[in-house]
Amino acid sequence: MPVLHDLVATLHTASGNAALVLGATATLAVLLYRRYRASQLNIPFLKFEDGDDSRQRYVTDSGSLFKIGYEKYLKHGQAFAFRNYVDELQPQVVLPLKYLHELKNAPESKLSLKRFSELLCENEEWLNICISITNQSMQAAHALRASWPQWARWAAPYVFKPVKEVRANQRRAAEMLGPVLEARKAAATGEKSGPPQFNDTVQWLVDYAEGRGRKLTLDLLAQHQLFYAIASIHSSTLITLSILYDLIDERNKDAKDIILAEIEEVQREHPTWTRPAVSKLVKLDSFMKESQRLNFVGHVRVTRVAKVPYTFKDGLYLPKGTMVQILHSTLQHDPDVFEDPLTFDPWRFLRKRQVAGDENKFQFDSLSDIETEFGAGFHACPARNSATASIKLILIRLLTQYDIKFDAERQRRPRNIGHDSATFPDPTTKILYRQRTTGGGLKE
Ligand code: HEM
Repeated sequence: MPVLHDLVATLHTASGNAALVLGATATLAVLLYRRYRASQLNIPFLKFEDGDDSRQRYVTDSGSLFKIGYEKYLKHGQAFAFRNYVDELQPQVVLPLKYLHELKNAPESKLSLKRFSELLCENEEWLNICISITNQSMQAAHALRASWPQWARWAAPYVFKPVKEVRANQRRAAEMLGPVLEARKAAATGEKSGPPQFNDTVQWLVDYAEGRGRKLTLDLLAQHQLFYAIASIHSSTLITLSILYDLIDERNKDAKDIILAEIEEVQREHPTWTRPAVSKLVKLDSFMKESQRLNFVGHVRVTRVAKVPYTFKDGLYLPKGTMVQILHSTLQHDPDVFEDPLTFDPWRFLRKRQVAGDENKFQFDSLSDIETEFGAGFHACPARNSATASIKLILIRLLTQYDIKFDAERQRRPRNIGHDSATFPDPTTKILYRQRTTGGGLKE
């Protein structure tokens, strides 16, 4: 096992056996403590019962376990627990929708969601760090989750290349943020009257730390800034790609033509794509929502960790450290929720919006108990409106200025890829494109 080889080599070179013994004892104590906590969970435990309940199975096939859990427990209002192969001793629970209201309103001190400056947003090196750390951190996390046991992960930043690369980028980001933070400190000592000088995520973090008398180190600031970058790039790009695959799928040719006509019609009225103009693209919006309903990116939403032992109103008890979530994916295919759920119906949500009084409901960025694409409650994605508008602007550009199709052998979208609770469109699929104005051959 390469992980163990790396680890053993590191341990050999590590100085001081005493430190090692101390570390091992501390790890054991933590593991025993967690095992005790896990044993307090009084929720049915679901596993693969066909003889293969290996860690690898959870990496490749979690979707089918979620389906079983949905039918057997969630549909009957019951929660289920399942193996947290990333951290074997930390319970992981999926809740039925009846808990969503309490889950999203629970105080941060109890159920918690762990977790650009205008001077840097045009800096090419900063932008490159944001883009590369998005890929690196996803690859590192997937590799670590799939093949590094929890007890060995402390060594990853020293011996595992993908994690080392993430750390190197974090360090560089912290260096780059140094002058930004200095400028904020200097501004804070100046005249305080008038409107606030800065209103961005750096300033929010500075104010948050100050308000609580905490020290905002550059490392911490970099971690937060890069988290924002990952949160914004990762889901937006995958969702845009997934919707594009549906738009160029031969089965949706008519729908694509109708959407193109809608875009051209709105554009005649609004030569500039303002927010109100984009909001008139109701057919595109409906198509996007249907595309994500069937080809969702990620099975679960509203993930929270119990910071303290937590009891729901009906008595469901979560020991401290339990990870809870809502199953977003299977709900999308439930015939009790969506009529003819496995059929791609591009105007499904448009029809719903045509009902008097519901004109502003069922939009791509709407939130409700069955619309958890962007999460729920206090932590629901704060950028959902602008992310939706950005995706639409990208699609408008692609549809109006390019001819795009899959390469010769493919007419339909490729199968989505699953990696534990993540699902995403296959990024290796080849597509051909040609700029309309220039004509010429299709490029890969
Ligand atoms: C289509 C694209 C996007 C999707 C589907 C998406 C989805 C989500 C989801 C599901 C959550 C967790 C909500 C919860 O647990 O209740 C979240 C949180 C978050 N998202 Fe997005 N997001 C998208 C784009 C963006 C963009 C573009 C940004 C930033 C510019 C962003 C910034 C954030 C932040 C900062 C959080 C954490 C909020 C908090 O801790 O309270 N997201 N997003």
